[in-house]
Amino acid sequence: MRTVFGTAVLGISMMLGAGALMGQSASSPAPAQSAKARQLARGRYLATIGACNDCHSPKLEGLTPDPKRAFSGRPQTTMAPSENPKEIHASLDLTAWAGPWGVSYGANLTPDPETGLKKRYTEASFIKTLRTGKKPEGEDLLPPMPWILYKVMPDADLKALYAYLQTIPAINNNVKNAAPPAPAPAKR
Ligand code: HEC
Repeated sequence: MRTVFGTAVLGISMMLGAGALMGQSASSPAPAQSAKARQLARGRYLATIGACNDCHSPKLEGLTPDPKRAFSGRPQTTMAPSENPKEIHASLDLTAWAGPWGVSYGANLTPDPETGLKKRYTEASFIKTLRTGKKPEGEDLLPPMPWILYKVMPDADLKALYAYLQTIPAINNNVKNAAPPAPAPAKR
């Protein structure tokens, strides 16, 4: 009986040991940095599938984001599209938009201290903006920024997204402020 019990305990501890080893090799060889690395990988993934590049990155050809200027916002060379109060118009690189709300430009999301997210955002205000659709100064976050879709992200995902955006290269690019709709032509 004693031997059977002993063997069973040994068997279980061997299984546990094997499980622990397998667990270790399946995740990361350096567990100390893995929590941060996992968070950044998650943030990168969310920024990718969240399509932030579509509106926040200059493009190479067609709609391929330029990796050298990733997330740096509407480039100076992109002109505002034409306005028609009944339609939404976009520039060919999708960084400048016009609609019933006026003209809006994809913001610089890089950690540049003068022109990027870092200037006005902290992790907490980033989360608040994506949840409430209000910029830190209290202004509305204009379309087509789809915050209404992003607000369902749990805190951990929004934190991961913010953390990832802090690690990308800072690019100095002052994006034009949004403008209200052009006044309707005067009636005679
Ligand atoms: C369909 C286009 C579009 C997509 C996709 C998009 N954005 Fe935006 N975003 C915009 C526009 C346009 C603005 C500027 C709005 C304004 O001026 O009020 C903006 C503004 C922002 C702002 C506020 C910047 C500021 O200066 O206060 C943040 C933060 C932001 N976007 C983050 C993101 C993140 C993160 C993603 C991806 C998860 C994303 N956006 C995806 C179009 C988009």
